[in-house]
Amino acid sequence: MSSKARVYLTTPIYYATGEPHIGHAYTTFLADTLARYHRQSGAEVHFLTGTDEHGQKIQEAAEKRGMEPIELCDEMAARFREAWSELGIRYDRFIRTTEDEHKAVVCALLDRLHARGLIYEDMYRGWYCVHEERYWTEKDLTPEGHCPDCKRPVQEIEEKNYFFRMSRFREELIRHIEANPGWIFPENRRNEVLGFLRQPLGDLSISRPRSRLQWGIPLPWDPEHVTYVWVDALTNYLTASGAIAPDRPPAERGFDDDFPEGAAREGSTHWWPADLHIIGKDILTTHAVYWPTLLMGAGLPLPRRILAHGWWVVGDTKMSKSLGNVVDPMELREPFGTDAVRWYLLREMPTGGDASYTPERFMTRYEELANILGNLASRVTSMVARYRDGTLPDSADASALDESLDRTLDSYHKAMRELKVHEALSSAMDLAREANGFVESREPWAQAKDPEGGDELDRTLGTLLRTLALLSALFQPAIPEKAAALASALGLDGVPTLEEARGISPSTCRVRKMAPLFPKPDA
Ligand code: MSP
Repeated sequence: MSSKARVYLTTPIYYATGEPHIGHAYTTFLADTLARYHRQSGAEVHFLTGTDEHGQKIQEAAEKRGMEPIELCDEMAARFREAWSELGIRYDRFIRTTEDEHKAVVCALLDRLHARGLIYEDMYRGWYCVHEERYWTEKDLTPEGHCPDCKRPVQEIEEKNYFFRMSRFREELIRHIEANPGWIFPENRRNEVLGFLRQPLGDLSISRPRSRLQWGIPLPWDPEHVTYVWVDALTNYLTASGAIAPDRPPAERGFDDDFPEGAAREGSTHWWPADLHIIGKDILTTHAVYWPTLLMGAGLPLPRRILAHGWWVVGDTKMSKSLGNVVDPMELREPFGTDAVRWYLLREMPTGGDASYTPERFMTRYEELANILGNLASRVTSMVARYRDGTLPDSADASALDESLDRTLDSYHKAMRELKVHEALSSAMDLAREANGFVESREPWAQAKDPEGGDELDRTLGTLLRTLALLSALFQPAIPEKAAALASALGLDGVPTLEEARGISPSTCRVRKMAPLFPKPDA
């Protein structure tokens, strides 16, 4: 068995109805950046994303377009995949909830809950919001009687449903959250969940009668009912972990071999439990209440952490199709390139907080890249090319800037581990800024003219090369294309890992003068 760290991280699976916009892109960039960071730190990573393809919302959207639901899902899953590949997302698994593999795992989970006496039949009376695919009680609705989340009209429903005894797990869940302060990040979201759990917790309806909804996974013991889409969707994380015996035929799948005492088998190669579910704050209850109680019911380990990030608005308005203000990441990247979009979204939103998209802020962030990182890269590479023909002798770490490399690395790791991605990026940018200050104070152009200044110049440029090598590694998770271009201008064999980067000596670099990393869009 290898001793490599293993990291399983997930995005939500996106509804196969809407086009990918900067909100979906943000979540996915965040996951991609953390995945790249962990890979670069030597971990084996399983990064999951995908599409949520069942439920009333999809069924209605397909009907409206005169298509079969599966045709719509095929089209949209392809669209998401294409968007992610254009935006530099390197996922390991793209799951679709219409896969046979997934249907088998949903049935196995439901059977398990059923066998443990945690499912019962009852009449459901209440309201349903198709847009959010959520049940609401009378007191949840707005004064106008609309959905409290999206403010759309809701449907009144009275029908036979199967219920999961979620209420039984309320106390255990509170204990879990209290015993694990970092389980939900950031803290205000954790408090929100605890506040929610202070109210009585109802049971969870887990099915819809087939007479009203056909597009779902039939319950294994009663095919006249289909699985509630959130139960179906949340289970994707388990399916893609490979924990539920994918090597056995569907009918023989179970949990006991895999989780004999509720924990993963020693030496097992599957990925459960997930290390991190990355989600938006809109779907916190489903992830921090429904999902863990379902897992408790099945006797499975809980995910290790949940990161609920904030909301992107446009100016001060919610993004919505009807307002026509949806920001399309593909359009945004046209003049500036993919990495400019990644940088803007990741750097502008404090992880966990909210942020507002404006073209002005986008430009400010682009200029930061161009004027600080881009400028540093181009002046240093051109000086090494011009004064030293692209190669330098080795020189020891000696300057204040050299000392900053270790300090930056420490604060970068700390911020990444605490999921404060924006802080990690800002510490990388601070180092680039400091390096520009170093260039100005050392004046290598003057050292180059001084007949006695040869060693000094080698030391100055050597420090700057070590800094650029480290910067390529620090920027790699967020802006992989540009980091690769920088590493290549230094003559390195790909972007070094963080550890390698710190050990790179100037004599191993073969520096070329480079084209601007972040050109002016009109140039
Ligand atoms: N299908 C469900 C998730 C099931 S996960 C088991 C769903 N899909 S969604 O297409 O609506 O995507 C929701 C996610 O997209 C949010 O949780 C968030 O991660 C992201 N965002 C969508 N709009 C957003 C903003 N305006 N701002 C930031 N992120 C947002 O819910």
